[in-house]
Amino acid sequence: MLKKLTDHKKNKKNIKDEIINIDEDNIPKHVAIIMDGNGRWAKKRGLPRIAGHREGMNVIRKVVKRANHIGVEALTLYAFSTENWKRPKNEVDFLMRLPEMFLNKELPKLIDENVVVRLTGSKENLPKHTINAVEKAIEDTKNNDGLILNFALNYGSRSEILQAVKQLYHSLDENKEVIDHITEDDLSKFLMTGDLQDPDLLIRTSGEIRLSNFMLWQLAYAEFWFTDVLWPDFTEDHFNEAIQVYQKRARRYGGV
Ligand code: FPP
Repeated sequence: MLKKLTDHKKNKKNIKDEIINIDEDNIPKHVAIIMDGNGRWAKKRGLPRIAGHREGMNVIRKVVKRANHIGVEALTLYAFSTENWKRPKNEVDFLMRLPEMFLNKELPKLIDENVVVRLTGSKENLPKHTINAVEKAIEDTKNNDGLILNFALNYGSRSEILQAVKQLYHSLDENKEVIDHITEDDLSKFLMTGDLQDPDLLIRTSGEIRLSNFMLWQLAYAEFWFTDVLWPDFTEDHFNEAIQVYQKRARRYGGV
């Protein structure tokens, strides 16, 4: 049934009472987004690539607000992959500045909107200023219990799975007989996403149709939605469209 979504939880004062044609009983709990197309957006305008990333950062604010509004529980944003280190130094340096640029401006609002900031990725090789900004946001939002805003930063899924296997192995404490009884949940616990539920919906912008080493384990049963829209052009309406498409899908998890 299509319903009029009313103000959600503690966000009442920030949200207009607007009509969004989505079913509030079938909201994906966890949405993951590959925010792609910043470079092409900039190139089309004769701007440096970092201008696209800056514009892309501004989109995050709108999407977080909309996700929170409709009752999404977790939003994971692929902000920097382990492969992105191969980019020119000036671009990498700028991408490493984005979390603090974003959080310097947005953290008070995130706190106010009951958002919980999390990090999925390796802190190794991240500049101190990036780690500090994210750690401060995690600390300042740790007592909130609303939308989880999870930044995938310096994240690569294969290396994540590999380190999980190694940690799981060491946790066995030489007790090799238990190997045959290891479950999927046992391995999941050692993934960087920890106790975060698997995404229900993956969005990728810019027309690329691939996973790019993103949450390979966690996306096993997610619904995928791809759009040609470049990330800096992505709006709340596109987010809604993705949710509407998701709501028309029949999720069978391998059953009938
Ligand atoms: C891919 O587009 C995008 C990235 C590698 C960076 C995404 C980062 C943001 C949108 C901002 C992050 C902000 C915070 C707060 C963490 P691309 O550069 O590969 O685009 P292209 O394929 O058109 O070149």
